Amino acid sequence: MKIIVTGSLGNISQPLTQILVIQGHAVTVVSSNPEKKAVIENLGAIPAIGSISDVNFLTQTFKGADAVYTMIPLSFTEPDLGDYLRRMAQNYAQALKEAGTKRIVVLSGWAADLVKSENVEHLFDGLDASVTIMRPGSFYTNFYQSIDLIKGKGVIGKFLTLRYSGLWSLLTGKTGLLMGNYGGDDRIVFVSPIDIADAVAEELILLPSGKNIRYVGSEELTCNQAAKIIGTAISKPWLKWVLLSDKEMLQGLKMAKLPEKLAETLVEMQAAMHSGKTLENFHKNQPKMGKVKLADFAEEFAAVYHKK
Ligand SMILES: NC(=O)c1ccc[n+]([C@@H]2O[C@H](COP(=O)([O-])OP(=O)(O)OC[C@H]3O[C@@H](n4cnc5c(N)ncnc54)[C@H](OP(=O)(O)O)[C@@H]3O)[C@@H](O)[C@H]2O)c1
Repeated sequence: MKIIVTGSLGNISQPLTQILVIQGHAVTVVSSNPEKKAVIENLGAIPAIGSISDVNFLTQTFKGADAVYTMIPLSFTEPDLGDYLRRMAQNYAQALKEAGTKRIVVLSGWAADLVKSENVEHLFDGLDASVTIMRPGSFYTNFYQSIDLIKGKGVIGKFLTLRYSGLWSLLTGKTGLLMGNYGGDDRIVFVSPIDIADAVAEELILLPSGKNIRYVGSEELTCNQAAKIIGTAISKPWLKWVLLSDKEMLQGLKMAKLPEKLAETLVEMQAAMHSGKTLENFHKNQPKMGKVKLADFAEEFAAVYHKK
């Protein structure tokens, strides 16, 4: 099959490309960076260099493909995350329609239907195609963004908040604590991007009718259990994941000069995870869990942690 993979050599798209190439498919990888060309070719795929903000580029790239995997990279600079996601999803939908693509696998997230401002899944509804929406839990790879914080303070938190942790600590006097309006004993479905890649690869070669939703997870744990697994791998078994209120979180993000709408969306996303509703939805769908457990990832994490 001729398959288009967006997301360049990202957490999901690199293993996805490797799987599809091994299976014998003709794979085109979309990257915005011309310097990635050689690496993409070395994986046995064809690079398509351009931006997902360019509908014409997407349309040309999708023409003649049997299946397309779409993802929207997160942006922390866009003032309104929901608006950015809508624009990118509309670009995809228009290009897929014009290219006449019949099989589409869309990356979303497990909190998508609980965070209205962020949910763009419906923009793929009007297409004359078989569409599967992937709803993965929280990526293991988010832990990489905690490295500086763990080194400095010994507490684990969540992706974006970490970028502002120094300032937050300064402003609130909560030095050594983290951050995230989910955490502590909240139960979360964590997922390896490798397991997501496996699931996307399975989906791309199927042709189910209409629209389908597939949840993806690797291991369900409390945040503190996850912190312990990561902490043990780096000889800090006492590592904790501290839970903040929505108000504290929002205040911190605003003080850190994050655009207001973006801050609100992030707090809403994490609040949905803290509420347990995302977990409830996940359980209702009863997906089969993937094979990569957090302890496996923790070894990789420890190697990166010690190198930094
Ligand atoms: N983190 C989580 O817990 C979580 C949970 C659920 C869902 N998600 C979703 O997962 C997605 C991230 O997936 P991932 O981790 O596999 O991706 P990733 O590792 O963040 O990689 C995305 C790649 O997209 C490319 N890119 C960036 N801007 C582009 C543009 N304008 N046009 C074309 N390509 C562009 C970049 O590579 P180049 O520089 O080569 O272009 C980038 O490395 C997010 O969108 C998020 O919504 C995340």
